Amino acid sequence: MTKIISGNDLNFAKDSLDNGNIIIFPTETVYGLGANALDKEAVSKIFLAKGRPNNNPLIVHLKDKNEIDKYAIINNEIEKILIDKFMPGPFTLILEKKDIIPDNVTCNMNTVGIRIPDHVIAHNLLSIINYPIAAPSANISGKPSGTRVNDIYSEFNNKVDFIIDGGETIIGLESTVVKVIDGIPTILRPGFITREDIESVIGNCKVSEYVMKEAHGNAESPGMLYKHYAPITPCILVDSKKILEESLKYSKCILIGSSKNKNIPCLKYFNYGDSKPEIAHNIFRILREADKIKGDIILIEAVDTSGLGLAIMNRLIRTCSYNYIK
Ligand code: TXA
Ligand code: MG
Repeated sequence: MTKIISGNDLNFAKDSLDNGNIIIFPTETVYGLGANALDKEAVSKIFLAKGRPNNNPLIVHLKDKNEIDKYAIINNEIEKILIDKFMPGPFTLILEKKDIIPDNVTCNMNTVGIRIPDHVIAHNLLSIINYPIAAPSANISGKPSGTRVNDIYSEFNNKVDFIIDGGETIIGLESTVVKVIDGIPTILRPGFITREDIESVIGNCKVSEYVMKEAHGNAESPGMLYKHYAPITPCILVDSKKILEESLKYSKCILIGSSKNKNIPCLKYFNYGDSKPEIAHNIFRILREADKIKGDIILIEAVDTSGLGLAIMNRLIRTCSYNYIK
C-alpha cells in the first residue's frame, strides 16, 4: 500500500530513495515520480510504473546551482545566463551530460535536462540525500500530469512507497524545457517561463515548430512525439466564438472554458478560470474531472498563444489530438 506522508516526514522518503525505490514528491509545477538519478535500476522502475516509452528521457532535479557542474557541462555564456536568471524555478535546461548520469535517464542521448525546483518540500528532500532525483511528471503515460494527491493516489496506489503531500501544485503545468541550439535559446516545451521572459534577458528566443503541431520522429524533444494529457472522452479545442455553434451538435456535451461561456447549454460546464495563470493551474484537474462524466464530447475553449497561452495551448492541442476548430 502506498502511504501519503507530509513534508515533515521526509526521512521515510529518503529511506525509500536510498533503497532504490520510487516516491512521488511535489514541485511548483506538477508532482514528480522520483528515483535516485545515479541508480540505473531505480530509474528503470520509473519507466515501468509510468508505462513510459524507453526513448523519452527524464529530467534530473538538483538542490542548487552549484550541483550542475557535477552532472552536466555548461558550454556557453547563454546557458550561464539562463541558469542565472531562471533557476531555481519552473525551467529545465538541456545541457551536455557527464558520464555519471546513467544512460537510461537520458535514453542514450548525450544531453541531460537539468531542473532546480523552487519548492520548499522538493528542496528539503534534495538537501537530505546525496544524489539528484530523476523524475518525470507523476501520471500514467498519456494522462494529464498529476497536480493533486487524490488524483495521483488513484493512479499510483501500490506502485510507489510514498506520496509526499504538498497540496495542489501552484503552477499546474510542467516546466519550460529549453535547449541552446546554434547559440539561440530554443523552447522545446513551453511553460510558465515564457518566450517573452527569455527574450527580455537574452534578446532572442526560438520556439520549436513542434510546440503547436504533431511531430513524427523529428522533434528535438522526444516527449513531443507522444499522445499526451488525454482523457478517454474525445476532446476538441474550439475558439471562444464558435463554442455555441459546436455545442449544439452534441446531445451530451461537456464544456471547459472561461466564465464568458458559462451559459451555453450543455451536460456539464467547468470554469477553467479567466486568466492564463488560473487556467494553467486548473486545467489538468478539470480534464480528469470531466472524464469522470459520461459525455460524448469535451469542448475546450482555446486561448491566444501569447505569454503563458503558448504553454496552455501546447498541452490542449495534444489533449485534443490536434482537433482545433478556429
Ligand atoms: O515541471 C516539470 O518539468 C516536471 C517536474 C516533475 O519537474 N517534470 C516533467 O517531466 O514534466 P516529464 O518527464 O513529464 O517531461 C520531460 C520533458 C519530456 O518532454 C522530455 O522529452 C524532455 O523533457 N526531455 C528530457 N530530457 C531531454 C533531453 N535530454 N533532450 C530533449 N528533451 C528532453
Ligand atoms: Mg510528463
